[in-house]
Amino acid sequence: MTVFGATGITAKYGQVTVLDQVDLPILNDNEVLGLLGPNASGKSTLMRCLSGEKSTTGHITIDGRTRADMGHDGWHHRLASMPQSPPNPSALLPTELMWSTARALDLDVSDRELADQIEGIFARLGLSEFALSPLHTLSGGKRQLVGLALALMRDPDVLLLDEPTSALDLHWRMVVLDLVRERLSDRGGVVVAALHDLDLAARYCDQIVLLHGGKIIASGGPQHVLTPANLARVYRVETRVTLDCDGRPLVQVIRPLRDGEAA
Ligand SMILES: Nc1ncnc2c1ncn2[C@@H]1O[C@H](COP(=O)(O)OP(=O)(O)OP(=O)(O)O)[C@@H](O)[C@H]1O
Ligand SMILES: [Mg+2]
Repeated sequence: MTVFGATGITAKYGQVTVLDQVDLPILNDNEVLGLLGPNASGKSTLMRCLSGEKSTTGHITIDGRTRADMGHDGWHHRLASMPQSPPNPSALLPTELMWSTARALDLDVSDRELADQIEGIFARLGLSEFALSPLHTLSGGKRQLVGLALALMRDPDVLLLDEPTSALDLHWRMVVLDLVRERLSDRGGVVVAALHDLDLAARYCDQIVLLHGGKIIASGGPQHVLTPANLARVYRVETRVTLDCDGRPLVQVIRPLRDGEAA
């Protein structure tokens, strides 16, 4: 069982406040939280605050314990994040990157188990045939999948994904998010995923937080958050929202709104 909490998250770059008292809903085991918002709204900064990479005045807990309570190693034993930028297009092979990362993290598994784990993750993400291809020869989407493989290898209870599907085609977007959900039902844990695709968010997230200018504009179930009024306010677009047969919102974007124009 994992319970993840984050309240009062405020973050600055220099003197500029980019997150202002952000309170996320409590995430209980098996829940996926979608973090939505336009460019520069603060999603990646929030992800870095949640992981501990960026300092914040907020209170972030896993099962009621903070990073200070658990210590750096204890925290990162339970939490892993996939950054927005994929691994650099270097001459390194995906397999080498996985092994060197595992060595650096001192993961508590035998070489045999690790080899099986890497093989399984690569197979699931369609990377087996690219395992020995230098990263600079892979497409952007395949490199993004290697970035996801690195986070999954750590088998965390709290998985933070910053735009995990932004470079992926329609097939792989769904494979990735199916895998994320399947993993939660198999082993428990929680996921926070920053996403730009509203339909994927509606389909895969239990709760959605809509950020704008470093503040939360709406928070709750997809049907509650993905409304034409919220989307007009935050994304400056006119939309039509209908419900599919499972009651999930389907967002049709009609046009961008002009400056000063109401939806
Ligand atoms: N290292 C940094 N130094 C200074 N300002 C930064 C830094 N990183 C981000 N910012 C600023 O913080 C704000 C939030 O940026 P952030 O990357 O968190 O947005 P985002 O919601 O992830 O955007 P996107 O959808 O484009 O990825 C922006 O105004 C950005 O310019
Ligand atoms: Mg970002």
